Amino acid sequence: MPEGAVGRDAQGVAVVTGAGRGIGQETARVLSGAGYTVVLAARTPDAIAAAAEELRAAGGRALAVPTDVVDEGQVVHLMARACADFGQMDVLVNSAGSAAFAPAHELDSEGWNRTLASVLTGTFLCSKHALRHMLPRGSGQIANVLSIAARTAFPDSAAYCAAKWVALGLMKVLQEEVRARGVRVTALIPGATATPFWEQHDTHPDFAEMIAPRHVAETILYVLSQPPDVVTDEMVVMPRRGILRRAADARGADHPRNGREWHARQRTCVYVFSQAVRAGAVRRAALLSAWRCRFQSDAGQLVSRRASPPR
Ligand SMILES: NC(=O)c1ccc[n+]([C@@H]2O[C@H](COP(=O)([O-])OP(=O)(O)OC[C@H]3O[C@@H](n4cnc5c(N)ncnc54)[C@H](OP(=O)(O)O)[C@@H]3O)[C@@H](O)[C@H]2O)c1
Repeated sequence: MPEGAVGRDAQGVAVVTGAGRGIGQETARVLSGAGYTVVLAARTPDAIAAAAEELRAAGGRALAVPTDVVDEGQVVHLMARACADFGQMDVLVNSAGSAAFAPAHELDSEGWNRTLASVLTGTFLCSKHALRHMLPRGSGQIANVLSIAARTAFPDSAAYCAAKWVALGLMKVLQEEVRARGVRVTALIPGATATPFWEQHDTHPDFAEMIAPRHVAETILYVLSQPPDVVTDEMVVMPRRGILRRAADARGADHPRNGREWHARQRTCVYVFSQAVRAGAVRRAALLSAWRCRFQSDAGQLVSRRASPPR
């Protein structure tokens, strides 16, 4: 029996990246509880070692393999180690990722590159090398933890949204390349989830309104549990209130949209608009535009000669 293997019959072997904390760690727990042998990957050795130990203490089979998903050599080693120690790999869950948040004109190259590397390149490399083990067997499942940022534009999220939108495109391509060869690929699209992911950022939505990582993990288990003749191409999981945005108030007074100047400009706009309404200018503009619409829609048939512009 390989190192770290105790008791319990396994459902299959699942490699989970980003398993040191957050959604990845919770997914490792849920899959282990469901009988999977779990190989945990992330860069911080202590975090995945502790998580693997927790799974083994609960009767599961688990192995920690420190991996930077951006390094192709380390990714090759991760997949090879899973197969060498447990005989095969049935599932890959791509959950590794980090993000730099800033307005595009302030985002530095390091933040841009780090985000695209961990979210996009890491997903590509892990999927590529998992497929090299799965395709010859004609079976396997890949679940990619994308984000609602793959579908929605969020301010201050140029790198993150770009990476997730492209990662969703990558999933679509993978699905078409491998679905006929027995491998199922799912794009999981969660909304804001209460994990340490947000702690590195000065503002974030209210944790109390976010999804619990356990629910995302259980959705992944649900997707993996579908019969072999069914594939879930996409699964969107949202907080009850839908898209949660970061509170503008929490941006701080020095933020351009929170400063005195911005509020003064807002007050000026409201004042000018209210004066225009009082002067009747807005009413006249609306009537003129209604008259133009009527004139244009009539133009192809009979022009109403009675229609006259408002005064
Ligand atoms: N939290 C949310 O609201 C939310 C919503 C939708 C989607 N997501 C996505 O879900 C995934 C997981 O997010 P999370 O909330 O669980 O974040 P998290 O709590 O910050 O955990 C991220 C995990 O990824 C690992 N990681 C980061 N960069 C890595 C790299 N280059 N190589 C290997 N491992 C790496 C981290 O460990 P190390 O730093 O030790 O490597 C950590 O274990 C991300 O792709 C995120 O975009 C998050």
